[in-house]
Amino acid sequence: MNGNIIIRNAKVVTPTGKTAVKGKDMNNLTIISDATVKVTEGIITYVGNDPCSNAAGYETLDAQGKVLLPGFVDSHTHLIFGGFRPEEFMWRMKGDSYMSIMERGGGIWNTVCATRQASKEYLKEKARHFIRIMSRMGVTTVEGKSGYGLDHDTEIKQLEILNELNSESDRLVDISTTYLGAHALPREFEGRPDEYIDYIINEMLTEVKDRKLAENCDIFCEKGVFTVEQSRKLLSAAKAMGFGVKIHADEIVSFGGAELAGELKALSADHLLHASDEGIKAMADNGTVATLLPLTAFSLKEPYARARQMIDSGCAVALATDLNPGSCCSGSIPLTFALASIYMGMTVEEAITAMTLNGAAAIDKADRIGSIETGKKGDLVLLEFDTHHALPYYVGMNSVRLTIKDGNILDNKI
Ligand code: NIG
Ligand code: FE
Repeated sequence: MNGNIIIRNAKVVTPTGKTAVKGKDMNNLTIISDATVKVTEGIITYVGNDPCSNAAGYETLDAQGKVLLPGFVDSHTHLIFGGFRPEEFMWRMKGDSYMSIMERGGGIWNTVCATRQASKEYLKEKARHFIRIMSRMGVTTVEGKSGYGLDHDTEIKQLEILNELNSESDRLVDISTTYLGAHALPREFEGRPDEYIDYIINEMLTEVKDRKLAENCDIFCEKGVFTVEQSRKLLSAAKAMGFGVKIHADEIVSFGGAELAGELKALSADHLLHASDEGIKAMADNGTVATLLPLTAFSLKEPYARARQMIDSGCAVALATDLNPGSCCSGSIPLTFALASIYMGMTVEEAITAMTLNGAAAIDKADRIGSIETGKKGDLVLLEFDTHHALPYYVGMNSVRLTIKDGNILDNKI
C-alpha cells in the first residue's frame, strides 16, 4: 500500500481541467484507448500510450477491455445521523408530504433528537458502513454535513466525527466537511429564527473556523425553514470568514435560492427542483455549480430538476446522492446515473462530468480530483465494462469492478 500503481491497457474516459465544466462542454470527455495510467505515491504521474515498462516498485494491473474513470465525487450527503425514519417513508407513500411531516414535528427534528443522544462511536461506525457501500460503487471523495444537532455540542460532535474519519490512515474515501447548523430551526429557538441565525454567525462559525472543523457552510433555504434574507445574512458572514458557501435551494417550492446562490457566487446550489429561469441564469452567469440530486426527487415522488435547461443555459451541473435518513435514504451511484439519463435527459458524458469534475468543483477541489490527469490524485474507478455507456444502462446495479484510492486498490467488500 505505497500508492504506486501502473494500470495498462485501460480505456481511459475522463473530463479534463481544474475547474467546473459548463454547459454543453460537459460532453467533451477525453477517451484514450490502450492507455497506461501511472500513479506515484498517490498522485497521477503519467497518462498516455507508453506502457511504462519499468515497473519496479509499482503494483501493476491489466485493464484490458475495461473502462477507467476518475473516482466519483459525491458532493452532497448527510452522512452522520442517529436513527432512521422508515415510518415517514410509509406516510409519504400514503400521500403525506415531506413538509407536512416536518411541520408536525417529525422530519429533521426526529433525527436531531436521535443524533443528540447518540454516542460518537455509534455515529462513526454507522458512517463507516455507508462509506464502505459508497466506496464499492466507486466513490473516492464524499462531502458530509452536520445539521442534525442544531445545538453547539452535537453540531461540533458531527463535524469532529467527519474530521476524524477523514484522518484515518486506512480511510476508503476523502471527506469534505460542511457546517449545516441552519438545517432547521431548533426547538430552543422556536419563533426566533433571526436570533438563531445570529447565534450561528456570532458563536458557531468562529469556533468551527478556528478549529478548522468545516470547509464549507450550508443552509436550508426554503419556505417554512429559512428565508432568502436569513440565508443571505448567514452565507455572506460565512463567506467573509473564508468558508465556501453552499445552499439547499428551491427544493420544495421556487423560493429564490438559486438567484441568491448566483448573487453570492456560491460554490453550489443544491436540489433546485423548482429553480426559476432567473435562478438558472444567475447560476450560469456566476459560476455556481448546480448540484442535482435525482435520488431525492425519486424518493419524494417529486418532479426532477431541469437538468437539460440548466446545461443548455450554460450551467455547470453536478450530480450527488443527498444520502440522508429523511428525504432520500440512498447513496446509490448506479441509480443516480440511471435517473439522470432516463428522467433528466442528461447524456452519459454529461453525467460522468457531473459525478466527477463538477462534483469536485462543488466542494472546491477541482484542482486536485475529478479527472485522470497528471498532478491529480490517483483516485480511479475500473468498470466491468468496455464502455462507459454501462453506467446508466446497468440500471441500479453496480458496474464497478474495483476502486483505486490514492493509488491503492481497495479491498472494499461490504
Ligand atoms: O437535503 N432538505 C433538507 N435536508 C435534507 C433532508 C434532511 C432530512 O429530511 O433529514 C435534504 O433533502
Ligand atoms: Fe441535503
